[in-house]
Amino acid sequence: MAVGWAQPAILILLLLVAVARAPAPAVRADKLARGGPVLAGMEVSSAVFPLYGDVYPHGLYYVAMSIGNPPRPYFLDVDTGSDLTWLQCDAPCVSCSKVPHPLYRPTKNKLVHCVDQMCTALHGDLTGRHGCDSPQEQCNYEIRYADQGSSLGVLVNDIFALRLANSSVVRPSLVFGCGYDQQVGSSSEVSPTDGVLGLGSGSISLISQFKQNGITENVVGHCLSTRGGGFLFFGDDLVPYSRATWAPMARSAFRNYYSPGLASLYFGGRSLGVRPMEVVFDSGSSFTYFAAQPYQVIINAIKGDLSKTLKEVSDPSLPICWKGKRPFKSVLDVKKEFKSLVLSFSNGKRALMEIPPENYLIVTKYGNACLGILNGSEVGVRELNIVGDITMQDQMVIYDNERGQIGWIRAPCDRIPKFGSSLL
Ligand SMILES: *[C@@H]1O[C@H](CO)[C@@H](O)[C@H](O)[C@H]1NC(C)=O
Ligand SMILES: *[C@@H]1O[C@H](CO)[C@@H](O)[C@H](O)[C@H]1NC(C)=O
Repeated sequence: MAVGWAQPAILILLLLVAVARAPAPAVRADKLARGGPVLAGMEVSSAVFPLYGDVYPHGLYYVAMSIGNPPRPYFLDVDTGSDLTWLQCDAPCVSCSKVPHPLYRPTKNKLVHCVDQMCTALHGDLTGRHGCDSPQEQCNYEIRYADQGSSLGVLVNDIFALRLANSSVVRPSLVFGCGYDQQVGSSSEVSPTDGVLGLGSGSISLISQFKQNGITENVVGHCLSTRGGGFLFFGDDLVPYSRATWAPMARSAFRNYYSPGLASLYFGGRSLGVRPMEVVFDSGSSFTYFAAQPYQVIINAIKGDLSKTLKEVSDPSLPICWKGKRPFKSVLDVKKEFKSLVLSFSNGKRALMEIPPENYLIVTKYGNACLGILNGSEVGVRELNIVGDITMQDQMVIYDNERGQIGWIRAPCDRIPKFGSSLL
């Protein structure tokens, strides 16, 4: 990242190297139509995993998964902004960070070859090109994220162990990346995770693979607590369908991103008059990023509205911060000085996402309140507006690929719903 913040601002959103054309809408409809009959009459379940981490100071939420045979635990950064799951990997490793667990070590019989449809799917999603000279070659990948992080590796196939809500333990063999050459995007040299859990809507995404293996419906959701932690769930057993706010998924020009479409922006109940914003929900981003125009407008609105008791101050954590008469202990000390934002989605029925101050401010270790909405132009995400972890906290956010909709509802995220622990 071009900016020298001490705060890890992780932004894991797949950036297409060459912008691939969006698939025709028929592709999605076809996928759903094929998905239906396969599972008809088959028992599918759900799984819940506890989450760890926070927006500040850690800058990410992650899950522990058991992978391999025998199973070993790995910490994975939960990312709804990309499809490929990958682990730092001893293949051997050319460039790996210091990770929490011993590197995953693949065996030769685990390699996925170019003939495999997962390889075709991956290359279709990443570059639109197959990238293989012969069908028996190993399937290589290269993935690059918006924060300049990247991973180069090879696709492998290995066992994931999950305990389901119906108390069965399943051990599907799933495809993921063995990354042997990583560039780390954030400033920290020790990586808090062993890899990334890709939960986008593409067919290589772990949630799509759960569906293909008849384990859960193609539905994933998270509940990130402002106090840290929370939970991640797969399948639709926990989804409060009638109470949540829903917006249809938009087929954005940026494929496989989860987008509820275009939104208008309100501050303190007043329209800010910005052009409709193309919004993407990305759990792999610690903060929220606005495109140039809404970013400028929201800063002006917030600054123009501040009480005299707050003074702008420089803080190494984030670009825009304020101090009060006394250092703040938490966002609760300062939230009454700020108004709520609202994103109003017009795709289908009008759906509102309210963003109270605690969903766009952090209080740093220096006792200042800082704006957790950042300038997307500085990180090259251009016209996309990325709703990151800070804004999705204390809500259940549901990505429902079965019904093609995204939902959200305020929820107590530090209470993990009872299905027992999913970590084996
Ligand atoms: C639980 O669900 C899985 C599939 O999701 C199924 O294979 C298994 O048989 C189910 N177990 C029970 C006890 O119903
Ligand atoms: C956002 O970043 C762009 C590119 O660096 C810059 O031109 C613009 O002035 C920034 N906007 C604000 C409000 O700082």
